[in-house]
Amino acid sequence: MSTSTKETIMSRIASRDATVGVVGLGYVGLPLALAFAKAGFRLIGIDVDQSKVTELNNGRSYIEDVSSDELASAVDEGLFYASCDYSELAHVDAISICVPTPLRKTGDPDISYIIQASDEIARIGGSGKLIILESTTYPGSTSEIILPRLIDNGDVIGSDVFLAFSPERIDPGRKDYTIYTTPKVIGGVTPECLEVAAALYCTIVENVIPVSSTETAEMVKLLENTFRAVNISLVNEVALMCDKLGLDVWEVVSAAATKPYGFMPFYPGPGMGGHCIPVDPLYLSWKLRTLNYKARFIELAAEVDGQMPYFVVSKVADALNDERKALKGSQILILGVAYKPNVNDVRESPAVDVIHLLREKGAAVSYHDPFVSSLDHEGFNLRSITLTDGALASADCVLILTHHDNYNWSQIADGSRLIVDTRHAINSQGKGRLIYL
Ligand SMILES: NC(=O)c1ccc[n+]([C@@H]2O[C@H](COP(=O)([O-])OP(=O)(O)OC[C@H]3O[C@@H](n4cnc5c(N)ncnc54)[C@H](O)[C@@H]3O)[C@@H](O)[C@H]2O)c1
Repeated sequence: MSTSTKETIMSRIASRDATVGVVGLGYVGLPLALAFAKAGFRLIGIDVDQSKVTELNNGRSYIEDVSSDELASAVDEGLFYASCDYSELAHVDAISICVPTPLRKTGDPDISYIIQASDEIARIGGSGKLIILESTTYPGSTSEIILPRLIDNGDVIGSDVFLAFSPERIDPGRKDYTIYTTPKVIGGVTPECLEVAAALYCTIVENVIPVSSTETAEMVKLLENTFRAVNISLVNEVALMCDKLGLDVWEVVSAAATKPYGFMPFYPGPGMGGHCIPVDPLYLSWKLRTLNYKARFIELAAEVDGQMPYFVVSKVADALNDERKALKGSQILILGVAYKPNVNDVRESPAVDVIHLLREKGAAVSYHDPFVSSLDHEGFNLRSITLTDGALASADCVLILTHHDNYNWSQIADGSRLIVDTRHAINSQGKGRLIYL
């Protein structure tokens, strides 16, 4: 009896003879690629950005969570190789797709990167391969976009070629959970697709969570991120309500968090940021709109969140007003422009909106961020300043937007005349005036 394609791939995975391809070597793809290389597979990474490919082949990582030492040893051992050329994937056994899924200017999903990657994979041929989509996208994407391209040559899904969706749950900057300890949800187009995909991922994660379809797996990811988006917006609205009521939202949340069950604390801030939480739920609401259904929680969350930069600016204006100063002409020093602590990612960062609003009002804005050396955006081009006692003292207002761990908060509290702290980063009053969100 001849060996089936499924058995061949499964046995090559088990023996680590399989070669794995990862397409898109960014925040998601690079850590995943290294995990496969560390598990003993030969890994070929594909990215359209030649400068990234060159850096990686020289053993230099541009992602905080991937150490250059680990990468360099995988390169030296011949386990990791990056290229811009999809033909390098012609003979691999499995390919994980980790390309971006942003929004268009209109707010609709931009799935062009998934289309490009799947066209390239179809061109080199999917036969005998397992293809897994990891990019976050709307339910139906895997079977509507990738499947038709893979079977166009007559291949049969589940016996000649295998297709699955497995959402990435990585949380950049996080130290308490790793790829290995974070359970991985997988849905296959057929049970055989699921079986092969689970066999591959079992080599890099402790727990695989199988679900019944690619659509279910796609929806799982959107539920997770919609849950976060809705709860972040809820607590931000609670911050707006507390402001009207003259209450301290931080005290309210921390007291509520003592409830041992039925409550999970979320903390207010200047707004959601990053490539995922503000974006992914809109993939879901877009899909639902095509089915004539309005995803009300998602749209409301986006609406409330959009108010937060205005609220932050009004807090700064009020704080200056108390000192008989106007926003116009005031020196505002922003601390932290990344969308969250300890990362260099400024995608969808609320800091960008806050800077725009402050500049529109005539404030002179500068910033410091130990992770972000420059911030180029339509209308401004800023460089991170050196955070000296002089810089703190000369600012009319220091505005804390991101609470990176390596800030010296007591130095900041003592050295600033006026602080608006949107993250409750400073725990005790310093010499200057301190105002929380
Ligand atoms: N960043 C996160 O925390 C995170 C977490 C979970 C899921 N995700 C999802 O994972 C996906 C990737 O996100 P990311 O943050 O890694 O993005 P990223 O921008 O950091 O990386 C994507 C990479 O893909 C490359 N690329 C673009 N088009 C390509 C193509 N046609 N072929 C090959 N490479 C191409 C880019 O050059 C880039 O290096 C998105 O769908 C995102 O929503 C991201």
